[in-house]
Amino acid sequence: MLTKIEKAAQVPENTNLVLLASKPENIKTYFLTVNEIAYIKHQKEKNKINSFAFNRLSHWIFVWFIKEDKTGHFLCEECRKAGDALQKELNNLKIESVILQQVGVSPKNILSLAEGLILGNYQFIKYFKNTTEKANTLKKVSIVDEGVTSHDIDKLNILYDAVCRCRDMVNEPVVQLNAKSLAGTFEKMGKEAGIKVEVFTKKKIESLKMGGLLAVNKGSIDPPTFTIMEWKPANPVNKKPLVLVGKGIVYDTGGLNIKTGNYMEEMKSDMGGAALMGSVIYAVAKAKLPVHIIALMPATDNRLNGNAYAAGDVIKMHNGLTVEVINTDAEGRMILADALSYAQKYKPGLVIDAATLTGSAQRAIGKYGLVAMHSKADGAMKQLKVSGDKTYERVAEFPFWDEYAELMKSDIADLKNAGPPEAGMITAGKFLEKFTDYPFIHLDIAGVAFAEKRDSYRNLGGTGFGVRLLFDFIEGYGKLQFPG
Ligand code: BES
Ligand code: ZN
Ligand code: ZN
Repeated sequence: MLTKIEKAAQVPENTNLVLLASKPENIKTYFLTVNEIAYIKHQKEKNKINSFAFNRLSHWIFVWFIKEDKTGHFLCEECRKAGDALQKELNNLKIESVILQQVGVSPKNILSLAEGLILGNYQFIKYFKNTTEKANTLKKVSIVDEGVTSHDIDKLNILYDAVCRCRDMVNEPVVQLNAKSLAGTFEKMGKEAGIKVEVFTKKKIESLKMGGLLAVNKGSIDPPTFTIMEWKPANPVNKKPLVLVGKGIVYDTGGLNIKTGNYMEEMKSDMGGAALMGSVIYAVAKAKLPVHIIALMPATDNRLNGNAYAAGDVIKMHNGLTVEVINTDAEGRMILADALSYAQKYKPGLVIDAATLTGSAQRAIGKYGLVAMHSKADGAMKQLKVSGDKTYERVAEFPFWDEYAELMKSDIADLKNAGPPEAGMITAGKFLEKFTDYPFIHLDIAGVAFAEKRDSYRNLGGTGFGVRLLFDFIEGYGKLQFPG
């Protein structure tokens, strides 16, 4: 269940209160005795203690200090992390609701604290026998701050909802979420947010000659789907649509080039790109942002049976280019390529794709940011990096030199689907670029979409990484020099 976040005008008596402060002096008029404040000051200065809890029997008062050595977006991230630590303490104490107030810090910081708190309070517990026993107690968070607007609160609620939906989809195992049910989830989200949704069935996909998606689907007993979500507000800031494309491999066994060892363990998360793009357009529509957006989500599992596609096969793609299959585990690019060439029909101003595409991206920078590259989208990429710092969903740009494309040339077809071991995340991007004729940004989220262990407010499992980043980018889209 989602935690409720709201704005409150004042702090009622006998309610759990969290004061976020930078200096003990600032809190003198707030709910604590002179002795208590002196105690805080002493402990903070002498023993470097930065969080305090006062038990008033009917309620608690918490005082948390933020680190003064951090500023800007680093400080906001510190606040999110503090929010998660606070969430743990509140749940340990079986607290159900809390009021947040800042003293002597900024409204931005209290919002970040709230964000970390609710994102950290997320749980995926539906499969436990006793869910009530497992469930966190915290249900409601109120913010008392004149500088925090109801627009801020609405936005926080929308983003939190979208991140949780993204996490839920990624956490859902394939036995529950195949290509058809993933498309069904997008349809439901579309209905809730007022987005037009169309789902292509296998027949339609065949008539569109999406050879890549069909080839990967050959080893599956479930049909593929291709979901199109469109948010078209009146008077959008962009004349040409922004198209988002997400990899929807609902399970990646590797196919005939089967994944060995423990490499298959996390592969229910291989639809993380589709989940991300579906959640982003959902949030954009809920917030009614004036940007025309289309999201394309090709989906199938990558399995093997007697009919599975094989290394050596030559596949004719949606745009007519042929691909020699070198490795059936490089399936993401096969389905994305069809979606990217399909995107050309919209004459987009910019296309961004997101995919858990390569182990190379994961190995290159780990969980600390996503890997990005672009062609003809310099301004948008710069802006995306700004959004990355702001939301702390950071963007690491890699080179996208033409020489890398040479490595994807085949002797018998227009392209091959896997290159040499070096720079695997870049050659994958270069493969995709062949199917584009518009400004293009490629995001490889293999390192960030799914976490093996919890990292503060980014829980174990699906992280929802990228939802806040892309929403912030789209919010500023109209301010781009060439929004299309
Ligand atoms: N889904 C994987 C990439 C992946 C790896 C995502 C680890 C998340 C965590 C992708 O389909 C894949 O298997 N890629 C291969 C490509 C190779 C065969 C060219 C890879 O990166 O090893
Ligand atoms: Zn694969
Ligand atoms: Zn994959």
